Amino acid sequence: MTDERLVAGQGDVSERQWEQALRPRRLSEYVGQPKIKENLHIFLQAASRRGDPLDHVLLCGPPGLGKTTLAHIIAAEMGVNIRVTSGPLIEKSGDLAALLTNLEPNDILFIDEIHRLSPAVEEILYPAMEDFKLDLLVGQGPGARTITLPLQPFTLIGATTRMGLLSAPLRNRFGITFHMNFYPVADLQIIVERSARLLVVPLKAEAGEELARRARGTPRVANRLLRRVRDYAQILGDGTIDLDVARDSLERMEVDRFGLDDVDRRILLTILEKFAGGPVGLNTIAASIGEEKDSVEEIYEPYLMQIGFLERTPRGRKITARACQHLGLALPGGPGPNLFGPSSP
Ligand SMILES: Nc1ncnc2c1ncn2[C@@H]1O[C@H](COP(=O)(O)OP(=O)(O)OP(=O)(O)O)[C@@H](O)[C@H]1O
Ligand SMILES: [Mg+2]
Repeated sequence: MTDERLVAGQGDVSERQWEQALRPRRLSEYVGQPKIKENLHIFLQAASRRGDPLDHVLLCGPPGLGKTTLAHIIAAEMGVNIRVTSGPLIEKSGDLAALLTNLEPNDILFIDEIHRLSPAVEEILYPAMEDFKLDLLVGQGPGARTITLPLQPFTLIGATTRMGLLSAPLRNRFGITFHMNFYPVADLQIIVERSARLLVVPLKAEAGEELARRARGTPRVANRLLRRVRDYAQILGDGTIDLDVARDSLERMEVDRFGLDDVDRRILLTILEKFAGGPVGLNTIAASIGEEKDSVEEIYEPYLMQIGFLERTPRGRKITARACQHLGLALPGGPGPNLFGPSSP
């Protein structure tokens, strides 16, 4: 199950509580993503100086990269309230109307999974975003009429893991769009070191780097690995996480050098062994490994592509020579694994 995956980008309910504790509160504590921080800092200052709400912000990127964290930081930096909801929770246009009419001036409405809003609800959102007004249809049949309610100026922050599923009219109504990228190891190391301080766990620098390297570019995964390794360190050692403890526990958890786990390896091995390395369609891959098509596309693939293990082609997914090298297997029709020198792609 994806929910139980140690290196899955998305988190579950118990994890949310941990995340609350580890979540940076201010922009200055937010590690990495320098371009986003720099731009955001300017936009925040400009809006504050004018006394305006910040322009609507769209945050896109794979799970666990810090979209929700950033939404809360924006509220804290603007000194305004944030109301949190998500696409699937807003069933009727009335639900959205209730949220919008309860906002105070310059407040933030955060809609997570905004690609899952229903078209009817989206319609209500357009005039609200553009002119801070609400067009409501009252009554039914021939007597039905539209009434317009003014709204307080507000900022909509939308988060999505699936930018491609967002309708163009909605996408275009965001003044600011940030694409979140996977984090480099150095940033993830800073994040685990910060978390270790907050959790009061002694963490050696090399061990922090090792965790960072295996965290699939994802802060949530880095924090999760830290918590698990801390358990091993407390039970099997004296509580200090040094390089040996880190490596040993990561091995016990079957998280490999690239942060790949069993599901990733199954995806790669299926393409390689059942479909001669691909190209093979996403549906077929998902069915073969017994996972949801959406989770394969949203959670596993982005990182496998990022590290150059998987390619998306018009005819389907293909495994790369680099992935075969990592798995220690030969690419069908290609050179054997022993021929992949360190300089191969
Ligand atoms: N830039 C960062 N600096 C420090 N910690 C971070 C950063 N980004 C994320 N984190 C940590 O990772 C955890 C997950 O981040 P967050 O919940 O914001 O991700 P998300 O993008 O909203 O994920 P999802 O798509 O699943 O909603 C946070 O609790 C936080 O501790
Ligand atoms: Mg989130």
